[in-house]
Amino acid sequence: MNKRKILVTSALPYANGSIHLGHLVEYIQTDIWVRFQKMQGHEVHYVCADDTHGTPIMLRAEQEGITPKQLIERVWHEHKADFDGFHVGFDNYYTTDSPENQEFCEDIYRQLEAKGLIAKRSVEQFYDPVKQMFLPDRYIKGECPKCHAKDQYGDSCEACGATYSPINLIDPYSTVSGATPERKASKHHFFRLSDLRCRTFLEKWVFESFEGQSGVTPEVKRRLQPEAANKMNEWLAGGLVDWDISRDAPYFGFPIPGTAGRKFFYVWLDAPVGYFGSFKNYFKQTQRSQAEIDEFLRPGGNTEMMHFIGKDILYFHALFWPAMLEFSGYRTPTQIYAHGFLTVNGQKMSKSRGTFITAESYLTHGLNPEWLRYYYAAKLNDGMEDIDLNFDDFIARVNSDLVGKYINIASRCSGFVTRKFGGALTDAISESNRKWFNQFLFCELGEGDTFLGRHVSIAYFYDRREYGKAIREIMLAADVANQYVDRMKPWELAKNDENYTELHQVCSVALNMFRILTVYLKPVLPKLAAEAEQFLGVDSLTWKDANSQNRLLPDGHQINDYKHLMRRIDSRQIEALIDANKESLQSAAQPSKTEQPVQTMEGNPSIPSSPSENGKEVKIAAAAMVTIDDFARIDLRVAKILNAEHVEGADKLLKLTLDIGLEQRTVFAGIKSAYDPEQLKGRLTIMVANLAPRKMKFGMSEGMVLAAGDENGGPYLLAPDEGAQPGMRVK
Ligand code: MSP
Ligand code: ZN
Repeated sequence: MNKRKILVTSALPYANGSIHLGHLVEYIQTDIWVRFQKMQGHEVHYVCADDTHGTPIMLRAEQEGITPKQLIERVWHEHKADFDGFHVGFDNYYTTDSPENQEFCEDIYRQLEAKGLIAKRSVEQFYDPVKQMFLPDRYIKGECPKCHAKDQYGDSCEACGATYSPINLIDPYSTVSGATPERKASKHHFFRLSDLRCRTFLEKWVFESFEGQSGVTPEVKRRLQPEAANKMNEWLAGGLVDWDISRDAPYFGFPIPGTAGRKFFYVWLDAPVGYFGSFKNYFKQTQRSQAEIDEFLRPGGNTEMMHFIGKDILYFHALFWPAMLEFSGYRTPTQIYAHGFLTVNGQKMSKSRGTFITAESYLTHGLNPEWLRYYYAAKLNDGMEDIDLNFDDFIARVNSDLVGKYINIASRCSGFVTRKFGGALTDAISESNRKWFNQFLFCELGEGDTFLGRHVSIAYFYDRREYGKAIREIMLAADVANQYVDRMKPWELAKNDENYTELHQVCSVALNMFRILTVYLKPVLPKLAAEAEQFLGVDSLTWKDANSQNRLLPDGHQINDYKHLMRRIDSRQIEALIDANKESLQSAAQPSKTEQPVQTMEGNPSIPSSPSENGKEVKIAAAAMVTIDDFARIDLRVAKILNAEHVEGADKLLKLTLDIGLEQRTVFAGIKSAYDPEQLKGRLTIMVANLAPRKMKFGMSEGMVLAAGDENGGPYLLAPDEGAQPGMRVK
């Protein structure tokens, strides 16, 4: 077998959110693949990093009163702990905010510039005059031009689903400062993807086939899965447009060379380059030479580079990234593996249903990470469709497969070996027991007279990312092992001294079966496998241990005392987990629609409806839990409406004059549809007294009154109970 040299990556998670069960699909999928390839004896380097740059991180740090570097440092530790907790075994977990990454970005940029692939032209964009920064679309909100819902994002309306450009918003405002944004031009740098060279290259790259390894045999491979190649076809057919790779200061990122610190690389430029940064950092740390680094990062090295990603970021990985690399003298990806999105109980992860579960919360509720790894493995295939975490199925599968089938073999047979035979396995296995063992080792192909070692078919499935099929094959083997034990009934044999030889045989064969199953399951269950190895008294198992020469433990092999390896899932644990995730939502001040920034696929014109699925996912993630301290930062006051009047030219707004004790405030409130000004005068309501003043077309709005409502009705103005006085704090 050829020894493969593979650089493997998972997408770099954003440093402004927590790792959740959705992310883990990808990291677990990749980790299983990496562990499997390492068990095959291949040289594999698995690198990842936090994706740290961009506006959301800059603003979030500011909100928290810390520097972006402090923020990303803290989040790095959180992410690292989550990945460790789920046994995701990166060889290096780094950051995109690194000197290595900066060097690569600058080099790539200079090479592209030298090839005439960088263009500069003026772009008009919304600008926040108070904050003095250009605003990504997601930081502009306003009234939907179609259904007139308030507070909709600059690119799409959550109420009616319309998509539009922020220019079309009615009464737009910056979610950063509240100011009315202005149009302003600035020079941007573009990667000229529209250049014929890029197109020619991409058309070839996407569809070319090449010779690769699969399992144990060479075979013809493709860069992308068929579904992904189809997507690329659509994008190529739609025409490629230049990609805007610059952002104006202030921006947390790398300055673009030659712009005197005024322009920065857009985060999506430096993020994939972060794969290289992490890899180089890892190779330097491990004293590898430049030539060894180049073998992986420059063309011509006999190495592979595999990217595992979610389907939402295919565009960046299959279009921009290979083109960028090709024209800057670096190697291009060998293959890109895209997976689908996680749903929970058949629906999108949701905070209100308690199914938006972070990695940390899963672990702190005492759930075993290997249950999830096993379940995901059982559900994953090489396609891009979504995968569903159904909790009933999760409990059933883990309990019946892992505990009921796999662990059960060891727990039923080990005691006899320890108690009756001093922990030693038998010296010789009889012909009849040997037959069972062979049935366990081989699967039938076709007519029943061709056999294939299961270790070959399972390896083939793992390599192809057909984990579901691998698991099925493994469980078929486990079924044979259990049938064998059920038939031989060691507990019956143990009742009579005369049957001890047979008892010894049966338990020895069963434990050999358990050992082979451990080999098969090890990529999925690394911790359990390590404990099983300890119990079996064997060194770290590799795929070779399931080969024909190594299939049996040596005669008389000594095992250790069995300690229970895994317990069953109790459905109450899942209920508690879901409840806890629901509860914490109720204690949060304002669940969604907070002004939490999100990172979107801006600058990506060919994606049909601009807010990608991911845009939405991230948005949920960004509506982070708040602490009581966060809540306390909002100054809510009882306010008396001294005056209410119509506003000339505004069809939604009323102008309110509010008394909050020591001062008066003017607030423009979108409640005209439901209230007559006269009816409001003298009423008490609640206002946010420390909201940054917002410049509106009709004047300055100095706060916000609170009202309830949704598509079924409202707005309903909030009012305190009798006795409350203007200026009283709401807490
Ligand atoms: N920072 C970018 C990736 C840059 S790679 C150079 C990003 N980050 S992310 O945190 O939003 O997502 C990281 C990975 O997790 C992506 O591949 C994404 O598709 C995946 N997932 C995020 N949510 C997911 C689900 N709900 N389900 C499955 N995978 C999901 O994108
Ligand atoms: Zn709308």
